[in-house]
Amino acid sequence: MQVREFLTMLARRWKLIVACVLLVTAAAAVATMQQTPVYESKTRVFLASDAQGYLISSADLGTFVELLGSPVIQDPVRAKLGLDAGTPLNIAGSVSDNAPILDILVRSANPQVAYAVANEVGPQLESIGGQYAPLLAAAGGSVKVTALVPPTMPGEPISPNLRNNIALGAAIGLALGVGVALLVHFLDTRIRTGNDVEALTDRPILATLPRARAGETGMIMEDSPHSIAAEEYRRLRTNLQFVDVTTGGKHSFVVTSAMPSEGKTTTAVNLARAYADSGARVLLVDADLRNPSVARMLGLEGSVGLTTVLLGQARLADIVQPWPDSDLDVLPAGPVPPNPSELLGSEATASLFDQMLDAYDMVIVDSPPVNPVIDAVLLGRLTGGLLLVVSAQRGRKREVSAALKSLDTVDQEVAGVALNMVPQGESSYGTYYGYGDNAKRTSRRRRRPAKAKPATVREPEPARRYTG
Ligand SMILES: Nc1ncnc2c1ncn2[C@@H]1O[C@H](COP(=O)(O)OP(=O)(O)O)[C@@H](O)[C@H]1O
Ligand SMILES: [Mg+2]
Repeated sequence: MQVREFLTMLARRWKLIVACVLLVTAAAAVATMQQTPVYESKTRVFLASDAQGYLISSADLGTFVELLGSPVIQDPVRAKLGLDAGTPLNIAGSVSDNAPILDILVRSANPQVAYAVANEVGPQLESIGGQYAPLLAAAGGSVKVTALVPPTMPGEPISPNLRNNIALGAAIGLALGVGVALLVHFLDTRIRTGNDVEALTDRPILATLPRARAGETGMIMEDSPHSIAAEEYRRLRTNLQFVDVTTGGKHSFVVTSAMPSEGKTTTAVNLARAYADSGARVLLVDADLRNPSVARMLGLEGSVGLTTVLLGQARLADIVQPWPDSDLDVLPAGPVPPNPSELLGSEATASLFDQMLDAYDMVIVDSPPVNPVIDAVLLGRLTGGLLLVVSAQRGRKREVSAALKSLDTVDQEVAGVALNMVPQGESSYGTYYGYGDNAKRTSRRRRRPAKAKPATVREPEPARRYTG
């Protein structure tokens, strides 16, 4: 996974990551607040003996540290402070290496108790310490305890540390979130970006068509000719013109997809219109005899069309419907036959296509999807190649890969891919005009030498509206 892909993944799954951070942070905060707070009081004492010439030894100091945790000290402290006999006391000590100095640490859930106990430890040690230092006891002396640092009054509890725990929770939540996001990313079977397509095929991506809002699909080239989508259809046309040069002058493309509803008809209709805008005489043929929808999408009469001509009931020229104010003619599907594949594979269809290719500068053919039926392959043989529409919303890697495989098996070339329904922020538009979250990365890409594939060819016209 490259850095760029990783960053894109993070940007796409930020909600999941934020949710993990919030969840773990909240859990840490709740767990912290449920813990009993611990307060600490510290004191430092100096130990001496009142016996002449007797110095407190390190062995004595070790003994005194042990005494702090024993009933010998703790019972009298409890009695003095009026605490119940069973009340646990947490008293610890540590000694300096080279001096008879003892650091005493007292911890308690109650700050006052911690402070009071720390105050009592010194006097108790003074009263009984002598008995536990054998040589000192033999000399008849006792221990003198002098406070070097008086006991501190606890302020904030030493634990739990809410701020630290929240920071730790946030860090763990972030790591968890990124981990879960990566997992989801790798388990995600959907096609989302051009990278996903590039991982499946070396065929160029000829356009990145933005996802339209509900009710804004159909003949976008006419309804909103200055939209981002219209620009992309024009780019698709321009890139296909370059591919067309390599197809032996067939000047025709089949628009297909792996599965239904990826946007074949929408793409075919708008692509045909974009071609017509460039001054070419264009024929749009609805050869999706399973689910004909060109006539419906364009609001045309659909009862006669391709199959009518194939039946010999009408001539092509008499039946095509000119699209107003353009060089576009439309041939709807006509009545749905019981045997679409046989019909499309027939001699009659082949000769009708020859006729259409002769009569027009460009023929755009709408077709059924590749995975369920063979029709697109049959049509592909009659034309200059296949344009594979892949939906970034509905397309699955497995399905696209299966379609590419079955096309490869029958030696049917894919001219290129049109990635459809790409969320607006992610369309290549941001890249052209400095919009969108990936503007930066593409500006970097653009500085690289252009690869010799059509997808990198840019539209010289029309006037750029989005020069922002
Ligand atoms: N770029 C797009 N953005 C949003 N919706 C789209 C887009 N392209 C197609 N659609 C919608 O998806 C549905 C299927 O599109 P259609 O072109 O009929 O697909 P197909 O011909 O592959 O079955 C239609 O409702 C259409 O309006
Ligand atoms: Mg369709």
